[in-house]
Amino acid sequence: MSAPGVNLKLNGDRLWDALMEMAKVGPGIAGGNNRQTLTDADAQGRELFKTWCQSSGCSMGLDQMGNMFARREGTDKNALPVYVGSHLDTQPTGGKYDGVLGVLGGLEIIRTLNDLSIKTKHPIVVTNFTNEEGTRYAPSMLASGVFAGIYKQDWAHKRVDSEGIKFGDELERIGWSGDEVTGERKMHAFFELHIEQGPILETEGVDIGVVTHGQGLSWTQVTITGRDSHTGSTPMPMRRNAGLGMARVLELVEEIALSHSPHAVGAAGHIDVYPNSRNVIPGKVIFTVDFRSPKLDVILDMEKKLKEGAKEICDKMGLTVELEQLGGFDPVTFDPKCVEAVRSAAERLGHSHMDLISGAGHDACWINKVAPTAMVMCPCVDGLSHNEAEEITKDWAAAGANVLLHAVLETAEIVD
Ligand code: GLV
Ligand code: MN
Ligand code: MN
Repeated sequence: MSAPGVNLKLNGDRLWDALMEMAKVGPGIAGGNNRQTLTDADAQGRELFKTWCQSSGCSMGLDQMGNMFARREGTDKNALPVYVGSHLDTQPTGGKYDGVLGVLGGLEIIRTLNDLSIKTKHPIVVTNFTNEEGTRYAPSMLASGVFAGIYKQDWAHKRVDSEGIKFGDELERIGWSGDEVTGERKMHAFFELHIEQGPILETEGVDIGVVTHGQGLSWTQVTITGRDSHTGSTPMPMRRNAGLGMARVLELVEEIALSHSPHAVGAAGHIDVYPNSRNVIPGKVIFTVDFRSPKLDVILDMEKKLKEGAKEICDKMGLTVELEQLGGFDPVTFDPKCVEAVRSAAERLGHSHMDLISGAGHDACWINKVAPTAMVMCPCVDGLSHNEAEEITKDWAAAGANVLLHAVLETAEIVD
């Protein structure tokens, strides 16, 4: 098996055009995207991707979680495919690249191989995983999680959004529920290209992150119950203010994460306050604490401290507190051979590179459980992501996608 030649490059302009075209689907309010999973905009984005894949000669597969698979044949009927991909769904105030770069970078590989009439022994399959973001339906990476056998499909289909609409019903409604049994595909390897979503590569002036590990994640849903009462006439000592209880627990979350600095982060991104009326002291709050660390013992310690500390805070305030584990995964170690394919691709192409631990969760974190997996990262401006202002340059995108191309070709084996 020989490595692809150093001059083999994909078309960075065409990749960029595809990113800009996809960004027109489900526009946000500030230049980014709101293409949340299983919305009409998601369906439209899927359709566009499907059209592009089909006009590149791919056959399309769709599983019962709505995961999409675009396949370019290999020369060996018995060789398992090399998979690439990520997700097309976005946060409510998402950027144009989070996830999308990995899917369209995969498509650009197919287009380039077609242009150059390059054949590979292993088929190449570009994947769009459903609901990576987890905004509408918790937990994140739900469909890659079902694919990898982490979650039961029935359970996933019954997850509800804030309106009580079931995942399975929405998947049917938008017309993207397939027949294929989720997870029955076997992969030779999986590679995911993604923007870093953090500041390290840009600060270091490095083109490529070779992702060796992913930090673990823990989502705990906290429900604090007090009593709704009038904000004007309830004497201060008589208040059972769940909102204040949450504020104190969130201070604790910050303290817990900082106590493990620099190996941990923590915050609550999802907060519901009830009844959310200006002149009612909140009687109930529900929020999700997101703790992350590359070290499992740190995650376990943070969960324990949250449980004990939240109870202590709420007991003192006459509030009740319930904690429910909503999802999460242990820290991930990617496959050394796939990681080396990424590193040697960056080296061969003359790109500066460094090893990275992914701060964010990715479909690759679950797929790593069922196939040899690695990730390629490119910088993003100011490390900003999960924000409509998320930005990358065309050169960064092309460099990342070229490293993906070379790692994939080395693994899929060019046939002369
Ligand atoms: C996914 O975007 C995550 O890291 O939560
Ligand atoms: Mn992502
Ligand atoms: Mn994301």
